[in-house]
Parts: sequence; C-alpha cells; structure tokens
Amino acid sequence: MKAIITPKYYFEPSLYTEEQNKIFSTTWMFVGFTNDLANPNDFLTVEIAGIPVAVQNLKGEIKAFKNVCSHRFSIIHTEKSGNRPFVCPYHGWAYNEEGIPTGIPKKPYFEFSDEDLKCLRLEQYQLETCGTLIFIKIKPDEVSLRQYLASYYPLLEEMSNAFGELVDVNEMLIGANWKVVVENTLESYHVNLIHKDSFRKLGTSGLNFEFIDRHSAWNTGLKFEEEDSAVKAIHKPYKERPFVMRGYKHMIVFPNVLISSTYGISFNLSVVTPVDENTSLFRSYVFITKKDSGKEKGALEEAYENSLKDFNRTVFAEDKFICEKVQQGVKYTSYNGELSEEETRVCKFQESYKALMS
Ligand code: FES
Ligand SMILES: [Fe+2]
Repeated sequence: MKAIITPKYYFEPSLYTEEQNKIFSTTWMFVGFTNDLANPNDFLTVEIAGIPVAVQNLKGEIKAFKNVCSHRFSIIHTEKSGNRPFVCPYHGWAYNEEGIPTGIPKKPYFEFSDEDLKCLRLEQYQLETCGTLIFIKIKPDEVSLRQYLASYYPLLEEMSNAFGELVDVNEMLIGANWKVVVENTLESYHVNLIHKDSFRKLGTSGLNFEFIDRHSAWNTGLKFEEEDSAVKAIHKPYKERPFVMRGYKHMIVFPNVLISSTYGISFNLSVVTPVDENTSLFRSYVFITKKDSGKEKGALEEAYENSLKDFNRTVFAEDKFICEKVQQGVKYTSYNGELSEEETRVCKFQESYKALMS
C-alpha cells in the first residue's frame, strides 16, 4: 500500500495550521481525568489547537472555558493544575460558573451594567465525559462524545472506571510531528528492532485489528498467558479486578489518544499534543487496576508497579529516538512512503486524516 499522507504533511507550517483548524478544533479532544477535578475549584489547563483552555470544577460541575481574561487578556490559570477560584492573577477579575466576570475589584470605576458583564463572558467549550475521561470540543456541533466514540464508548467507560492507582506520569517533548509519533504507535512492525530488549519480550504478534469509525485497535496474545504459573503469582493481588481481558489491547481514539492494557491489570493512556510542525508533547499515564481497597500493598506489587513504570519509560524513550530520526529524514525523501499489512492501522489513520483535511 502507498501511504496516503505524503511527506510534506509532516513538516509544512501551513499544513500544520490547517490541521489545527480542521482536526484539533473540530473533534473531541481528551483533556484529563474526572478524579483530578473531583473537588470544587479543582482545575487543569491545556492547549487545544493552540488555544489556552481551563477545565475547572465550578460548584460541582466540570466546565471548560477559554483561559484568557476578558479584561486585559492575561492567562487566568497559569499552572497546569491546582485548586483555586477562577480568578485572573493580573487585576483580580473573578469568573462565575457561567464564565461571567462577576467579581471585579474597584468595579465602580468601570461603570459596567449587568448586560455589559454578560458580554464579557468567557468562551465556553463543549465538555463530556466517558467513564473518568474528560473530552472537550472547541468548535461546537451536534456530534456527542458517545456518538464520536461509537462502540468504544462503553469499552472506554468500563476500562477507565477500572483505572486505579496512578503509577507514573511521563511527559516529554519529542522532536517530531505529532503524526509521526501517533503512526509509530499504530504498527508493531518496528517492535523487533526498536524495542528488541523491551516490548519485543512480551511476544505480541498478529494482525487482529478492529476499525470503528476513525478509531482502531489491535488485539494480541502475549508470550505468557495468565494461566502460566509465573504469571499467576505476579497477578495474584489483582485477581479480583473490575476489567478482565486476555493479552494486550492497543487502541487509538482519533486523532491523538492512545490507550492500552495488559490483561486489564495495567493501563496506559498517552496523549500526543502538537507543539509545532516539528515538535510534539507526549504525555503518558500508567495506571494499575483498581483492586480491593484497604489491602496493604505487598513487596511483590511494589516491585511489579516499579517494573511497569521502568518498562513504559524505556519503550517510550526508544520510540522518541526513532520518531526524531523520521522527522529528520522525512524532509529529504523523494518517495511517498510504503505501508505493509502490519501497518493497516496507520493506513486507516491516514484515511481519516485526509478526509478531514480535504
Ligand atoms: S487582565 Fe485579568 S483582571 Fe486584568
Ligand atoms: Fe514503539
């Protein structure tokens, strides 16, 4: 198969701007987890299509607003996350749960009517959740998150509700276009060489793919199945887990969220955020399954969780290395790229991308 996305799409600034408008502004974007916004005034900040967004628990409800003050345009929440009223740090304008500036220091100097204040309302974005996952959409339309995720909605709901302790958050800048990073995760062809001492040892194989709208998944068995005695011992503490599956599953929620699980015991959720046409921010969360609360964590569990963290970090460092090599090379090729059957998910990703870009 010939690749559908041609090389210029990986480095041309004008195409980068176009995809911010046509893809990142128009589709549901993952921004964080409900658990992190459980209390009133908990907030997190993200950039979607370059727009600063604040997602905050305001009087018990999670909402998303443009994170830019209506007064003199300062960023309102300047940290990545925290707990604070929705107040601008510059002159102290305070916004209510509708994004209206209702608390204004020295207000009489402005002579605002109530109507004036409503006109200064912050732009609000559509926000929906699936299990513990929060998604927002910059340009409003009729497609609900449930419709967007299609049959992955119930699966992601069940999976994310099974996320227990957060074992690791790994954030790194990768010197490669976001599509290089995403496409790399959509094929296992590179595993034998790039991950020869890490991921390869899991013994994944095969072409068991699923395609659901723009999303896709790969299901594979593992070298060690749960019935093996060595595995049984390690898995004992997680026997009573809420989400049980065989082997390994890797999914993409188009365009930039990657979710995988091994046996339903460990989970990884990674988001690839474009920074510019040659740079991506890769943020990866590793969770261990929820299990019976109140039970003390044993030494075996501690060791298993540490090994998970190390394993994920090793694998992603290997991917970072090769993605940066691709970014260097892609500017100089005179070919369009070839895809094998093992890279069918890359092909489908490219089809979805091209459909939105046309
Ligand atoms: S810029 Fe925000 S209060 Fe002045
Ligand atoms: Fe990889």
